Amino acid sequence: MRAARSHASTVQSAFKSDLVRAFSSTRTLGDEKSINVVSFNTSGKREQETLAVPAAGNEPVTPPGQDIEVAAQPLKHELFDKLSPTMQKFTLFGKVAAITGGGRGLGYNMAQALSEVGVKGIAIFDVQQELGEKSAQHLSAQTGVDVRFYKVDVRDKAAIQQAVQDVATHYGRIDILINAAGIADSNVKAETYPENMFRRLLDINITGTFLVAQAVGQQMIKAQNGGSIINIASMSGSIVNYPQEQSCYNASKAAVIQLTKSLAAEWARHNIRVNSISPGYMDTALNRVPALDAQKRIWMDNTPQKRLGAVDDLNNLAVYLASPGSSYMTGNNCLIDGGYTLW
Ligand SMILES: NC(=O)c1ccc[n+]([C@@H]2O[C@H](COP(=O)([O-])OP(=O)(O)OC[C@H]3O[C@@H](n4cnc5c(N)ncnc54)[C@H](O)[C@@H]3O)[C@@H](O)[C@H]2O)c1
Repeated sequence: MRAARSHASTVQSAFKSDLVRAFSSTRTLGDEKSINVVSFNTSGKREQETLAVPAAGNEPVTPPGQDIEVAAQPLKHELFDKLSPTMQKFTLFGKVAAITGGGRGLGYNMAQALSEVGVKGIAIFDVQQELGEKSAQHLSAQTGVDVRFYKVDVRDKAAIQQAVQDVATHYGRIDILINAAGIADSNVKAETYPENMFRRLLDINITGTFLVAQAVGQQMIKAQNGGSIINIASMSGSIVNYPQEQSCYNASKAAVIQLTKSLAAEWARHNIRVNSISPGYMDTALNRVPALDAQKRIWMDNTPQKRLGAVDDLNNLAVYLASPGSSYMTGNNCLIDGGYTLW
């Protein structure tokens, strides 16, 4: 049996479509001592190994079900004068944000957070039409903020250029970009990694991040109002996850971090700040399935805070990075991982 250890697992549950390997519990929920890891190589051959699960109580790691929907609440402008100067710097009255991958998950939660600090408009860019429309409608209804959905695949340069132009025309400005669209392949061995999968992931995670930043950057430079770009990288851009193989995802996120620094240096003269957020293992709705409970115990056991990140745990940092409160901060990669990368 191979012992479970630090950097034990992955985000594959949030990206099921790319999952090649599956973890399955060998015991009943709450009593796992070990889990079987079954993988299928590209020839379809089945391979199996066993991982030891750290001791835990009987309680499930997370209750099954969806994220608890917390309604966003708008910030009333009349409150602005009552805020202290420091608090005023955290507000974004009159600003407009675009958020890729804003249809759900971390992107949607950060959209909610921006809607609570005064933005006048939010453009959700996502490849999923129905999901994106629903999210935009939902957030508008909750807050009265003008939230619009744009169907954009971040690999499609023409669609990106068109959407960014439409945002600038409709709202009259674009001040904030959050690049949250991304996918993951995991449990794919480097020696057999299919070229088409490798290229696809890089196309979405790194080229997509660049193309959207470029289109929005061009608008910001033209408008001469400066701006803030926030790229969602991952702790996988700084460490190698263990035991699963995910070389392409890790490389893509390291590239996002270095792209962030490069753009920050180039565009500082245009008063555009560029920073990245690197989340650790996040407890998103998609991985709230009992079959993953044992795996989550390994993730948590290797996290000093002994929990996964909540889906809204990036929100306040996103607000800070978007706001004048962080005006001297650029080119930074901010880890939010409950301390996972410390060990
Ligand atoms: N969930 C985690 O544990 C975790 C950890 C570290 C980093 N991240 C990163 O955070 C970001 C968001 O992750 P999430 O957990 O919210 O994922 P998610 O799958 O819930 O949401 C991603 C969103 O991006 C959209 N998207 C995917 N491909 C796209 C494309 N080609 N064009 C436009 N939109 C596209 C999806 O439709 C979806 O709405 C990703 O970049 C991911 O790599 C997530």
